[in-house]
Amino acid sequence: MAFTIAIDGPAAAGKGTISRAVALHFGFAHLDTGLLYRATGRRTLDGTDPVEAALTLRPEDLDAEDLRSPDVAQAASRVAAIPEVRQALLDYQRAFASRAGGAVLDGRDIGTVICPDADVKLFVTASDDVRARRRHKELCEKGHDVSFLEVLEDLRQRDARDSARAAAPLKPASDAITLDTSSMSIDEAVDQAIESIQTALGKT
Ligand code: DC
Repeated sequence: MAFTIAIDGPAAAGKGTISRAVALHFGFAHLDTGLLYRATGRRTLDGTDPVEAALTLRPEDLDAEDLRSPDVAQAASRVAAIPEVRQALLDYQRAFASRAGGAVLDGRDIGTVICPDADVKLFVTASDDVRARRRHKELCEKGHDVSFLEVLEDLRQRDARDSARAAAPLKPASDAITLDTSSMSIDEAVDQAIESIQTALGKT
């Protein structure tokens, strides 16, 4: 039986870590849909047309080394505003969501557009400052030379663009459970997410 968990939220709110942990806990497959937009955005940096880049995305593009860089993040957010790019990536995401054995997808529009009938929807968020601190630490650990203020500005710009776009904007689904991780450790956030999912499962 297909069982789908949708996890959405702004950049660096902890969606990735929570999604991986939830997938591991329930034995489900996990898809980080941001990677599809990052890989598409990265290809446009070489001059490839965004729609062409999305239509011809290859599995190896998802393994590119610098997908986590701030430049690629901005390019991802720009291509993500193009309806034809989103359309090109839709079938792959829906097929992943309906695989047997269960799936966790994280992104911006999973609960609203990709999987409006997901069994459980979480909207993971945190304050700008907390998100920027977490992302700054992560980037520094990976060897990126970037200041805290640059990271904060990158997140704010992306969130503003991702929320204001007409096509599948970032917003909680009306039936999503909001999880504010501002004052939680990663372990606490993961525990809370698992608890919310278990409670929601009990109700279905
Ligand atoms: O989750 P992330 O930071 O890796 O995502 C990078 C960008 O991709 C983000 O700024 C907006 C876009 N994105 C999107 O529009 N829809 C998704 N489902 C996932 C990501």
